[in-house]
Amino acid sequence: MRLGIAGLGTVAQGLLALVRELGTHLDSCSDHALEVTRVASRRPRSEVDLLGATFDSRVDSLVSDDVDVVVELIGGTEAARQLVCGALEAGKPVVTANKALLAEHGNSIFELARSRGVSVGFEASVCGGVPIIHTLHTSLAGTQIREIAGIVNGTCNFVLSTMEERDVSLASAVSEALRLGVAEADPRFDIDGIDAGQKLSLLAALAFGMPIRSNAVRVEGISAVSREDVRLAGELGFRIRHIAQARCGSEAIELGVHPALIKCDSTLAQVRGVLNAVALRTSALDKLVLLGPGAGGRATAAAVLSDLLEVARNRGKPPPIGRTRTLAITGMKTPSRFYVNVPALDRPGVMGQLGEIMSNHDVSLDAILQKPADARTPRARTWVPVALLTSPITSSELATVLQELTPLTDPQRSIRTIRVMDSEY
Ligand code: HSE
Repeated sequence: MRLGIAGLGTVAQGLLALVRELGTHLDSCSDHALEVTRVASRRPRSEVDLLGATFDSRVDSLVSDDVDVVVELIGGTEAARQLVCGALEAGKPVVTANKALLAEHGNSIFELARSRGVSVGFEASVCGGVPIIHTLHTSLAGTQIREIAGIVNGTCNFVLSTMEERDVSLASAVSEALRLGVAEADPRFDIDGIDAGQKLSLLAALAFGMPIRSNAVRVEGISAVSREDVRLAGELGFRIRHIAQARCGSEAIELGVHPALIKCDSTLAQVRGVLNAVALRTSALDKLVLLGPGAGGRATAAAVLSDLLEVARNRGKPPPIGRTRTLAITGMKTPSRFYVNVPALDRPGVMGQLGEIMSNHDVSLDAILQKPADARTPRARTWVPVALLTSPITSSELATVLQELTPLTDPQRSIRTIRVMDSEY
């Protein structure tokens, strides 16, 4: 099976290295030996061993008679879309690691692939080396997926776990991620949750048999999480993680990306640094967790290779996404507990008023934690963080309560809220 690889970045280099290293093992995996016949990239790299492939600076050169499968590893959306669609039009299967491309154009790409009877492999597009796409599509085909809860962005997980382990601010944890090369030079795409939202849209489409709806995912990043929140959550027995969550109900599919408090002893709370983990709850398996490297050249290249072997074993298999389920998409509607950090004015009676507001809205408090004020500031002019854990409520109930709490707070500061994820993962 002759491969045309577009791109010569980290993943493409990892793929070339794996093909070279695994030679005879790969030959034994299918009836078709893999051979790289073409590599195309705008930037040549003389130091990379192209395994004897022809090099070209134009990626559209890959849609050629001596290429059976096109491997798209250039990233971005426009040039990648043209390449992928050109290959599919020509009846060539495609393997891609490009989640942004699929989040934006996946529905039309999969439709085109289906009409041409060829496959689109995208294991590497979500969580790098963690085999979540094949798991959802193949291994769990005999059970209905009810819920997905994943740590799908390594940068956010590195930042949150560094804040917790080193007791540092978000800004210094982000600087550390940049210094170590863990984060992209511009980390906003990750920190703001966009990357996780795109990944969730692909997972949900596969898990629940619906079109890809990346614009329908409610996305909240981690930039509002403070060192104080991390400390207070710890004292309450929780860690903060950035979670991509999807839940399939009878009338709607809830999709959301947000920071969440999760119990310290849960599996997801143990996930530190750049690792990714995806927890699933299904009709037949109570719970399943996949954990591993969500990025990195070799790990992601191994996912690309698994798709290539899939093509070699089973050419022409249609892509797994494209059925159209008509359930509505909503944000997270199911009531959940919330952590609420109230910068309360430090004066007598405030705690009583706070309790009364909660009770007026039938919200019970599972925990209250108040830190003493800084002794150097005059008491009448200071504020103290009061951390609350509410009983399960909806986001709109929470919004009403917050409005009433505002007069009790320091006007310079805002109330911070973080969802508690009580599912046992
Ligand atoms: N930037 C991503 C992350 C990896 O931090 O997880 C690529 O999807």
